[in-house]
Amino acid sequence: MREPRFTAPPDGRLTADMRTAYARTGFLVLEGYRSAAACDAVSARAADLIAAFDPATVSTVFAADSNAHTRDAYFLGSGDKIRFFLEPGAFDAAGRPRVAKERALNKIGHALHDLDPVFDGFSRGADLAATAADIGLIDPVLMQSMLIFKQPRIGAEVGLHQDATFLHSDPVSCTGFWFALEDADESNGCLIGLAGAHRQGLKERSHFVDGRIVKTRLDDTPFTGVEMALPAPKGTLVLLHGLAPHRSTANSSDRSRWAYALHAHDRATRWSDDNWLKRDAGMALRGF
Ligand code: FE2
Repeated sequence: MREPRFTAPPDGRLTADMRTAYARTGFLVLEGYRSAAACDAVSARAADLIAAFDPATVSTVFAADSNAHTRDAYFLGSGDKIRFFLEPGAFDAAGRPRVAKERALNKIGHALHDLDPVFDGFSRGADLAATAADIGLIDPVLMQSMLIFKQPRIGAEVGLHQDATFLHSDPVSCTGFWFALEDADESNGCLIGLAGAHRQGLKERSHFVDGRIVKTRLDDTPFTGVEMALPAPKGTLVLLHGLAPHRSTANSSDRSRWAYALHAHDRATRWSDDNWLKRDAGMALRGF
């Protein structure tokens, strides 16, 4: 299957070939969607946020392969805040940090796009609105944002999953807008997608019940499809259909792999109230 890779259109409008590639694979890689300067500006802002962050105030280690965070109030309350999550590999067996705090973070989430003006500006614009419309989103709103670090040597793998497991609606409308803030390739843990498998239904649902997250298996049929690495030079936008299975490997390189991921929900579909992500009722949802 041909790789769904194109040079980003300057106005965000997708060509018929781009729309076809997205429909066929569940992914679309648009190189040069954001300028290097724009990536540097949000990375610099992130560095300021990290400088002001005191790791002693949190204890949440985010491990995609562990469920510890699913009962953690700091994580569960982060839907409408800017919170910091630590990388398990950054600590020794006694819980002491092995690296400096800027190298110990797994991610920052989940409302950078609404609470920080620099991230707000990066997350919105007529180009993104056009791209969202061209992949069929009718009334998209930005539900969450994550700055994902994938630290050199310790950035952990993220197993195969579908984003709609966590951000569910009926019908599924969750769509990932994943920006490479640095060059991402197979040595520092770029995305790897299972092309075409977004047409095989949702395999797992995550529900927020009685103060904790529980997962329900919906379908035990294994995915079939062709795995496709999606290397992304700095400034690339990778669109991810909410049902598209994807993963990333551990970062085995000496380079970090900063990425900024937005997830949109289409208000033309019904948001599932048992999603984990909660927002203050006074914090209005906004689109692109
Ligand atoms: Fe994901």
